[in-house]
Amino acid sequence: MALYSEKVMDHFRNPRNVGSIENADAIGEVGNAKCGDIMKIYLKIDNDIVSDVKFETFGCASAIASSSMETEMIKGKPLDEVLQLTNKSVTESLDGLPKHKIHCSVLAEEAIKAAVKNYHDKQKNNI
Ligand code: FES
Repeated sequence: MALYSEKVMDHFRNPRNVGSIENADAIGEVGNAKCGDIMKIYLKIDNDIVSDVKFETFGCASAIASSSMETEMIKGKPLDEVLQLTNKSVTESLDGLPKHKIHCSVLAEEAIKAAVKNYHDKQKNNI
């Protein structure tokens, strides 16, 4: 059996929403100290809905595939729904990841939560 699903390979080879957003409304950046991989998510938010999302991931194939899938899953979604996203749902949408690569999908979940937190913090500071 192949180590990676076709979906993982597809999102790794043709990642969706790669890049950055100038004047992003929120940015979430996280890293994994063990493997050294870094993930950065940029959000454009209109009326609490993610109108655009981009990512830069300096990491392994699973981290890139997880980021890519995640951006597809949250685009056009309200923030409260975005916060429900888990590494499990990302992994399931990719038709699974090898056990030792699950932490890569965790990084994706943490990045998006960090971005939403960044957005809420900014909102608070604007009041
Ligand atoms: Fe660390 Fe994939 S090996 S994020």
